[in-house]
Amino acid sequence: MYIPSATRYNQMQYRRCGASGINLPAVSLGLWHNFGYVDDFENSRKILHAAFDAGITHFDLANNYGPPYGSAEENFGKIFKQDFVSYRDELFISTKAGYDMWPGPYGNWGSKKYLIASIDQSLKRMGIDYVDLFYHHRPDPNTPLDETMDALAYIIKQGKALYAGISNYDDLQTAQAESILNRLGVHCLINQVKFSMLVRWPEEKLLAKTKNLGVGIIAFSPLAQGLLTDRYLNGIPFDSRAAKKHGYLKKEQITADVLNIITALNKVAVKRGQKLAQMALSWLLRKDNITSVLIGASSVDQLKDNLKAIENITFSQQEDDEIERIIKTIK
Ligand SMILES: NC(=O)c1ccc[n+]([C@@H]2O[C@H](COP(=O)([O-])OP(=O)(O)OC[C@H]3O[C@@H](n4cnc5c(N)ncnc54)[C@H](OP(=O)(O)O)[C@@H]3O)[C@@H](O)[C@H]2O)c1
Repeated sequence: MYIPSATRYNQMQYRRCGASGINLPAVSLGLWHNFGYVDDFENSRKILHAAFDAGITHFDLANNYGPPYGSAEENFGKIFKQDFVSYRDELFISTKAGYDMWPGPYGNWGSKKYLIASIDQSLKRMGIDYVDLFYHHRPDPNTPLDETMDALAYIIKQGKALYAGISNYDDLQTAQAESILNRLGVHCLINQVKFSMLVRWPEEKLLAKTKNLGVGIIAFSPLAQGLLTDRYLNGIPFDSRAAKKHGYLKKEQITADVLNIITALNKVAVKRGQKLAQMALSWLLRKDNITSVLIGASSVDQLKDNLKAIENITFSQQEDDEIERIIKTIK
């Protein structure tokens, strides 16, 4: 039987999510990889326990996480039932729809038909009555944004989600989404975007725009799927994401250029007394309007390592300059 640590709220920092009543942990846990039927169930369970024990209250899912699609939600549902039912009110659970989920014209993108069916399926798979946050997973160029936002507002009015979110929306799309939701009496809580030392586009306009709108930002793949760690410094480990058939990180992405950059960044991290993974997370966490970094982990050790990022989120001008110089060599 799982009994959470009594000191689980002592170390974590909580940050207000935009202009809302919600505080999210500085580090949140995503279940995209490592929680499907292809993965070791007991390992997944241990990672969730370690996360909650460390004050990670936010778990992020999507309809199609696995593989196979839906299996991360099903496994999460099993673990929730075994271990977390009594702690439901301490958890902030999110899921999403917007990518390929089931065959035919109604299992993808941003129609009201898809989103309403998908939230019902997700709740059933997880065995819960509501999610805290429901996202539209990516912008849909062919569905009117009014329809997609209407679906989010409807789901909230039905009580199936408490908050609405968007993912992979740029600054203009975010402003449009927030304005439509406002008209429907709903606030856009957060935008979930890919953001790391290697993916910088949110810095350009999105951070300032969301701050202005009171929308939070959660950075996904902050470790660039493991590239911004020591995982690939000496080759491709057999149990790494890049080595797995179903992993979204492909071996071809680990080029000589990328290796040069991560080797150089690793040296800066060591000088700071951090691991590269910790430095990559600290680098994001010190930015204005970053509510949380949304990490993945394939082991409890990785998770624990990453949590130490919170201990040092200041950078000297010299460190900043050096990091910029290294990152610029990728362009
Ligand atoms: N909204 C969207 O479109 C979208 C898209 C992608 C992801 N997401 C969300 O973001 C979450 C995180 O994405 P991600 O898994 O790509 O995040 P990530 O944190 O960039 O990468 C996680 C991977 O990095 C490696 N790793 C983590 N900590 C490590 C450490 N301390 N030392 C060495 N290696 C370490 C592990 O890879 P190994 O498996 O090789 O050990 C782990 O699975 C997802 O679960 C999902 O919730 C959202």
